[in-house]
Amino acid sequence: MAATPGCSGVSCFGGVGGPWPQGMRVGLLDSTLREGEQTPGVSFTVEQKLEIARLLDEIGVAMIEAGHPSVAPDVREAVRRIIGLKRDGVIRRAEIIAHSRAVRGDIEEAASLGPDRVAIFYGVSDVHLRYKHRRSREEALSIIGEMVEYARQHGVRVRFTAEDATRADYGFLVEVVRTARDAGADRVSIADTVGVATPYGLRRLIEGLRRDAPGVEFDIHAHNDLGMAVANSLAAAEAGASIIHVTVGGLGERAGIAPLEAVAVAIKRHYGVDVVDLRGVVRLARLVERYSGVPITPLAPVVGENVFTHKAGVHVAGVLSNPETYEAFPPEWVGRSRDYTIDKYTGRRALRARLERLGVSVSDEELAEILRRIKERSDARWLRDEDLLEIAEEVTGRALRLRPPEHIEALVTVRCDSNVYTTSVARRLSLIPGVEEVIEVTGENDILLRLRARNPVELNRVVEAIRSVRGVQSTYTMLVLRKLGSGDTGAGEKNAISS
Ligand code: COA
Ligand code: ZN
Repeated sequence: MAATPGCSGVSCFGGVGGPWPQGMRVGLLDSTLREGEQTPGVSFTVEQKLEIARLLDEIGVAMIEAGHPSVAPDVREAVRRIIGLKRDGVIRRAEIIAHSRAVRGDIEEAASLGPDRVAIFYGVSDVHLRYKHRRSREEALSIIGEMVEYARQHGVRVRFTAEDATRADYGFLVEVVRTARDAGADRVSIADTVGVATPYGLRRLIEGLRRDAPGVEFDIHAHNDLGMAVANSLAAAEAGASIIHVTVGGLGERAGIAPLEAVAVAIKRHYGVDVVDLRGVVRLARLVERYSGVPITPLAPVVGENVFTHKAGVHVAGVLSNPETYEAFPPEWVGRSRDYTIDKYTGRRALRARLERLGVSVSDEELAEILRRIKERSDARWLRDEDLLEIAEEVTGRALRLRPPEHIEALVTVRCDSNVYTTSVARRLSLIPGVEEVIEVTGENDILLRLRARNPVELNRVVEAIRSVRGVQSTYTMLVLRKLGSGDTGAGEKNAISS
């Protein structure tokens, strides 16, 4: 099955700027450990950072921004040990970057750890110059030149980040890039710091800079305040920026930056380039979800729970005939599979396919009647296979449910340690597979959980996972015995479409 990479249909026109470029030359810089840790509420342990860095290298990101050593002792320690992994050959390919303000102390600390590159940032818009740095443009140029040169004297490669570049005066920005280049920076990052660029504007900006300040490579660092980060990153790459900054899940300040998974898939989809091993991105997203405590929303491109689950009958019918009808790219690219739900939006084709998958064949009249009954149950968020088989039994008068359904539900009340935030414990608990519902309660206990498992062994495993969450003091488990297939409107199983 082929969702052909490269242009097809209208996308061949490539918007205002002409056709998509051929032979796109671009790599990813992952900043989950630096920008990502600037997400409110996120703090990775050193060990977690090492694990994330190894996985990032495994999937093939070109650069890892490991952190800003001057921020805190543990940040410094993480940067030091990630550089150690590179030195020991555990991290094989990725360039390791240490972040730094344009001050000698930061640069010395960063360079002393022996990274491949030090990245020095400085705000270059008038608003940053006036209200943050309290410097004139001339002073800024001399600071940038001096600091880049100072870092180069430590024998490291240097990237200069023009912070807030998209709100800077263009003529001044050109001078900034030339100054950084002439002082020894081989890369300049164009930061859309507050996410206000448009793809067209950014494409022209990068084209202009490549023309007016040649001899240096450009990065794009696009924030997502207006939901434009991925589009802006691609536009910059089309104009010749050769590194795109991303974080796993799009973590970062405020609305974050461009998500690694979306950028990587978009690059393959549009330009036919495998910028990383896409099969690793889901595992990475889940790992970072767990360590950051920031949940992946069901609608998140590429990694969200829903993004390969079709619902409306017309869509499912199309997908059953050829998945390309309603998919931008095949789930196999990222090691996932497609689903579809059965509910009041279901059509005949979807229903027949599902019943056939369950080994049930019905006449056209029976099918119509089953569908009518499904559509009457508009309270059900979706129907599980058991529910569907029960309806099919009623309609056909035949015994269809061969296997007794097995599942156990349990309620677990949790008491938290007195010195922790219940909400953060609740959030961690909600990430444990098998935990279906998390409710904060008042009284003797703090949190009520609803679990679901296929058997007692699995149930024990879930309860053990709950007990091992930081902040959980004690638990009490009650089993819920429930007659199955009786109109449970909760989350049910979904089934892969086999096509
Ligand atoms: N280059 C040089 N100086 C910079 C700068 C830059 N790019 N950006 C900000 N500064 C200066 C500010 O002008 C201000 O200086 P002032 O105290 O003389 O006014 C100072 O850095 C920032 O203020 P503050 O955070 O209060 O200073 P601090 O000395 O207590 O802490 C950090 C500095 C960097 C250790 C601290 O802010 C921190 O841990 N930051 C997290 C990392 C971060 O901010 N990263 C931004 C990445 S875009
Ligand atoms: Zn940023």
